[in-house]
Amino acid sequence: MPVDKTNNPASSFQQTYDVIVIGGGPMGLATAYYNSKRAASTLVLEQFTFLNQQGSSAGVSRQFRIPYPDEYMVKMAEDALPYWAELQTHTQQPLLTTVGTLWFGDPTVQSTEGNIAAAELAMQAQDVPYTSLTVSEIEQQYHFKDLPQNYRGLFQADGASIDLLATQRTLYDCNLASPHVTMLEQAPVIGIEQSDQLFVVTTPGGTYAGKKLVIVPGPYINDVINMLNFRIEATYWNMTSCYFKKTDPAIQYPTWFVFQQPEGNSGNQFYGFPEVDWDHPDYIRVAPDFVMTPLSDPNLASFVPNPEELAYTSEWVRKHMTGLDPTPHYKSTCLVALSKIAGKEMLIDFAPRYVPNHQNIVMYATGWAAKFVPLLGSILSEMALDGKSSYDISHFQTGQRYFRSM
Ligand code: BEZ
Repeated sequence: MPVDKTNNPASSFQQTYDVIVIGGGPMGLATAYYNSKRAASTLVLEQFTFLNQQGSSAGVSRQFRIPYPDEYMVKMAEDALPYWAELQTHTQQPLLTTVGTLWFGDPTVQSTEGNIAAAELAMQAQDVPYTSLTVSEIEQQYHFKDLPQNYRGLFQADGASIDLLATQRTLYDCNLASPHVTMLEQAPVIGIEQSDQLFVVTTPGGTYAGKKLVIVPGPYINDVINMLNFRIEATYWNMTSCYFKKTDPAIQYPTWFVFQQPEGNSGNQFYGFPEVDWDHPDYIRVAPDFVMTPLSDPNLASFVPNPEELAYTSEWVRKHMTGLDPTPHYKSTCLVALSKIAGKEMLIDFAPRYVPNHQNIVMYATGWAAKFVPLLGSILSEMALDGKSSYDISHFQTGQRYFRSM
């Protein structure tokens, strides 16, 4: 994919960029998109290729949902919708296919996504309409079967399947058309120096100068911030996903998530998507929201779906879903970093104070944030250009709980 729209600005800093964005996934592309609206010259450096399959945005679909156990997250999901609507004006391809969110399962279970009862309270506090469901209503209205009798659920109508590939392509195309944005791929950052209040960023193909840094390399966050002498504590999941062929063409599922008590030494949460014509039509995507073996380093990821996780998912589909052949057909993986800081799923902050020029270094790391892509792009752009965000990011700041690299 041709991405260098300008003559390569390498070597002798023909240009000092207002912002260098490290990481060309959805967050980096969205940051550049918002920088461009303010005519801020922006260089996006991507270590692999744009739209690659080696990071958190691998695959095509993600869930947009309003239910969250914390009120500020419910609010943030609602606040993201106008940003999606604005991005949608740039493409004919629907970015969100709105089918609703179904959350169901054991109401006492606390999972990485939260808990059903807490989400109901948070939505009530934010005046978000939703419907509570009994187990028989879940089975009759949404095609699940043989669920334990203690299961309960909720349905929230704004839930959607996000076309993350189309989202990235739209942002990429807007940036490509912008006179303010330069995008370089195959450009891993191998050095960051500081000189005269400028960041001097080195890749194998060239060295670039910028006034601000936005660091958004997804799971590879520590590979980059190590060069600035700090790191975050995270664990990494090589997440498996599979697609099951529909045997009943009339059946359609919403986006859904099931909360269940763990069994044995494996997790027991699953989630799924509707059939959409932009991601394996005639198939339904279902995935486990657990991994058998978390990784200590993203560079250890195999990108191979774990056979045990596939078997658990297939068994759950066989037992509890109707209208599907329970043999996984297509399979995929994606790699996510999860924060080890309690209560902080997403980290959005400036670099720690001991890093020189820290107020000009912005980073976003960890968590499941596809649903926030355009809003987060706007937040990160404001942080870089204004030194602060007009959106309240206090819940996502680390409280400087970073760790010095050795
Ligand atoms: C989410 O909505 O954040 C999510 C859904 C399924 C798996 C992981 C995260």
